[in-house]
Formats: sequence, structure tokens, C-alpha cells
Amino acid sequence: MKVVMITGSAGGIGKAAAERFLTSKQWKVVLCDVNESMLFSTAEEFGNKYGSENVIAAVMDVSNRGSVDKAVEQALKEFGQIDCLINNAGITRDGLMIRMKEEDFDRVININLKGVFNCTQGVLKHMFSRQTGSIINTSSVVALYGNVGQSNYVATKAAVIGLTKTWSKEFGKRGIRVNAVAPGFIMTEMVKTVPEKIMAPLKEKTPLDRFGEPSDVANAYYFLASDEAAYITGHVLSVDGGLIF
Ligand SMILES: NC(=O)c1ccc[n+]([C@@H]2O[C@H](COP(=O)([O-])OP(=O)(O)OC[C@H]3O[C@@H](n4cnc5c(N)ncnc54)[C@H](O)[C@@H]3O)[C@@H](O)[C@H]2O)c1
Repeated sequence: MKVVMITGSAGGIGKAAAERFLTSKQWKVVLCDVNESMLFSTAEEFGNKYGSENVIAAVMDVSNRGSVDKAVEQALKEFGQIDCLINNAGITRDGLMIRMKEEDFDRVININLKGVFNCTQGVLKHMFSRQTGSIINTSSVVALYGNVGQSNYVATKAAVIGLTKTWSKEFGKRGIRVNAVAPGFIMTEMVKTVPEKIMAPLKEKTPLDRFGEPSDVANAYYFLASDEAAYITGHVLSVDGGLIF
């Protein structure tokens, strides 16, 4: 059995991803999230469904290095190895540039970008020592096109593409693959608050004529983590129904 550590997996895409790995019966899952109540209820749900020996819950704030290191330590103590890290946790704090608050800019950078740095560095020594592993970062369709009102978020999601390409070069000879997934608009809490007048035209521009489901992204994570993707690194896989802004 391999072990995947998924940040932000108490809900949304991360939770769907955890379930995708667990249903394969080839992976154990370390659920990581800052929302303790959601985290423990997801862990209990999956423990009941897929066996409590296959799931652990690690409370983790990706923006806090101490908390990340503690979660990695817990995962290694309980499961002995980490084969894949999915840097999925992310937030939005939208606002037009003219009035974006500095604290909203900093918060999004600290979670979406510094969090990816923290978690990757947290597992890296372990992966280097085993000369194998895979890291999957979560970008976004908006990193490729830009989006009004999301300067902070788009900056982090574009940066994550830069990290993916840089790390694929830096870690490749150590047997570690690094890829990114760039989801389009996926029906989770993150987009449920976006007004209909913004969502409707986006659906119009989506050739596959629907918004994405968390499982659509989960399947892409699963593929990139699997041995079927053994010769793929430094890639950004769009999962967006063909959406063009
Ligand atoms: N939903 C979309 O349309 C969409 C599109 C493109 C990219 N994404 C990206 O996909 C990822 C998952 O998004 P989602 O839609 O499932 O969001 P979500 O809000 O439904 O879930 C995010 C999870 O991350 C957790 N989280 C937040 N801050 C954290 C922190 N500091 N430390 C640890 N966990 C934290 C939350 O508690 C939550 O469980 C994010 O990186 C997001 O930017 C989402």
C-alpha cells in the first residue's frame, strides 16, 4: 500500500480526492486540514467506509511550518512512508485591486503559496531519502488567463506553476515527479458564493457545457500520482471542460 497526504481534505476537492484514493484499495490516506471538526468527521466517515487502518487525520495549518512538520511526523509514525503529497489546500479573498486589503493579499499568499512551500519542504527529506515520490500542486484555470478581482489568488496559482516546473527539474534525478492540476470552475464551497450573473457566462464558455465536480479533479490527481504517470513530470493538467476565458 502507498500513502498519500492531501492538504485541505476535510471537504471539497480534497475530500473527493481522498475517497478516490481509498476506493482504489491501493492507497492509505493522510487527511490534513485546519478545520478540525470537519477533518475528524471526514476521517470518521472514511474510516467506517474504508477501514480505520487506512485513514488518519492530521490537524494542519499549511501556513504554519511547525504545524506542517508535526503532521508529517504523525504520518510517518503511523504509516511509515509518504509516497505522494497533494498540495490542495487553498482559499480566496477576492476584491478589486484598487481596494484589496493588504491582509487579504498576505493571507492568500501565506496559505496558497507559502503553504505549498512549507508542505513540500516538510516531506522532501523523506522523499529524497527513499529516492521516490510524487508531488501534485493545485493551480487554477485563472492562473493561465487572469481574473478580475483575484489579484492575490491568481498570483499564487501562477506561482504554483513556476514551482511545479522548477521542482520537476530540481527533484527529477532524485526520482520525484512534480505536476500540477489546473481546475476550471468546480462545484465546491469555494465557488458556491460566486453570483449567478458571473457563473452563467462561464458555463457558456465551457465546451463541455457543465461546471466540474470535485471527482473530476480527484481523478486527475489520482492519475498523476499513479504509476501510469511514471514518465510525466513538470506538467500542468487542465481539468476545466475546455473553458476558454
Ligand atoms: N473549486 C474551484 O472551482 C477551484 C478551481 C480552481 C482551483 N481550485 C483549487 O482547488 C483547491 C481545493 O479547492 P476547493 O474548491 O475544494 O475549496 P474548499 O474551500 O471547498 O476546500 C478547501 C479546504 O482547504 C482547507 N483549508 C483552508 N485553509 C487551510 C489551511 N491554512 N491549512 C489547511 N487546510 C486549509 C479548508 O478547511 C477546506 O477543507 C484549492 O487550492 C483551490 O484554490 C478550486
